[in-house]
Amino acid sequence: MDYDELTDEELLALESLYCSYGDTVHYLKDPPIFTRGEGVWLYDRSETPYLDFQMWYSAVNFGYRNPEIEAAHQRQMETLPQVASQYLHRTKILLAAALSQETEQRFGQKGRVHFNVGGAQAVEDSIKLVRSQRGGKSLMFAFMGGYHGRTLGATELTSSYRYRRRFGHFANRAHFVPYPYCYRCYYGKQADYTARKEGAEGGESCGFECIRQFSKLFETEYYGVIDKKDDAVEYAAFYIEPVQATGGYVIPPKGYFARLQAVLRQYNILLVDDEIQMGFYRTGRLWAAEHFGITPDIITFAKSLTNGLNPLSGLWAREELINPTAFPPGSTHSTFSSNPLGTAAGLATLDYIRRNDFATTVAAKGVYLLGRLRELQGRYPVIGDVAGLGLAVRVEMTRADGFTPDRALADRIFQAGMKGDIGLGAKFYGLVLDIGGYYKNAFTLAPALTISYEEMDLFVELFEILIRRCQE
Ligand SMILES: Cc1ncc(COP(=O)(O)O)c(C=O)c1O
Repeated sequence: MDYDELTDEELLALESLYCSYGDTVHYLKDPPIFTRGEGVWLYDRSETPYLDFQMWYSAVNFGYRNPEIEAAHQRQMETLPQVASQYLHRTKILLAAALSQETEQRFGQKGRVHFNVGGAQAVEDSIKLVRSQRGGKSLMFAFMGGYHGRTLGATELTSSYRYRRRFGHFANRAHFVPYPYCYRCYYGKQADYTARKEGAEGGESCGFECIRQFSKLFETEYYGVIDKKDDAVEYAAFYIEPVQATGGYVIPPKGYFARLQAVLRQYNILLVDDEIQMGFYRTGRLWAAEHFGITPDIITFAKSLTNGLNPLSGLWAREELINPTAFPPGSTHSTFSSNPLGTAAGLATLDYIRRNDFATTVAAKGVYLLGRLRELQGRYPVIGDVAGLGLAVRVEMTRADGFTPDRALADRIFQAGMKGDIGLGAKFYGLVLDIGGYYKNAFTLAPALTISYEEMDLFVELFEILIRRCQE
């Protein structure tokens, strides 16, 4: 059968009959069917270019069809594309060493790397590691607005009840703590955000009320987390995202996490840093946690580790937690963990990172994009908030008061971008966006880190056309 002969309509009819709708989200009314990708662009059958500003939720930080990463993947394809995880191959060892060495340089801690396939599976493995290293304790802290994946264990750390309600509990639901989402401060102290200057620590007027509230939990046994006889805490770890991803690219004030870690250290609670979306230079650092002066005990990563080629995920942990005695062989196992196509792509990604100065270029591009978006915000009061760290940039759509979330407007812009009919000169474009956030009104902009300044300008032009088209 010549599958290329099928029209998009015929394919969509087959999809409606045979694809489970349960394995991903279904937000789009008339989805385009993409046929190829290149750099920051996706193309449909008619070769309409769609500028991608979400890059597979940050799984393709280094551009579609990145030639250097793809070449390494291809070489592996031609030599040893498959081998059982229990047997060794070169790129598994080299990638684990490279990731461990890069992490040690940053945090001053020797550690080891443990592989799996998807992000949620890495989170599952981290739960096992935490439980085993804290005497089987199974309770965790995590953030409101946090997202750690949709397996049964990971959804217990993900705040939305929506992800759990039809499935019941298999592990223990985390104790959810407000994230420092200062634009919509949980404790009503948003004045601090309005007054904050770029680069300020935060807490200038609120005195980090959120930290004060968290610390208070440990004051008396009656708040349910501590036995004051010996200060033993019932909670084993705190799962964080240094920049909240699905939660709407929420950037915490600079001084927040160091204060949080001080409390965790006092009570021997492990800090698990989920870098699955923000890792690999999305924020201008290998690990987003580097911006905040903290030292994670465990780091989980996935997505851009292979630039979106063969799935590969994993965790890094301090030697004391993960040495072969502490976490013995077979503590976890998955057929496809450390698959050679994935580890070859991962090693090529790290080599690529080492050859390019993403710390400098991502910071500069991020400042430029933010500046352009703030100009736009000056002209469109429905852009309530614009903020970013590196090339993780948030744009929150609101009513004209600049605060009341406008989910419907964000959705109209998203749908319109996917139509592929934005006319500019003689050409038509599409714009691929992703919506996140507590009120589903925040665009989580994640362009390829290799994007050019001209492509960022084009984005601003296309985005403005969509705002004008979709405003009521
Ligand atoms: C921070 C974070 N953790 C975990 C996950 C889950 O990863 P996966 O979708 O590969 O299971 C995601 C996915 O978006 C994520 O953003």
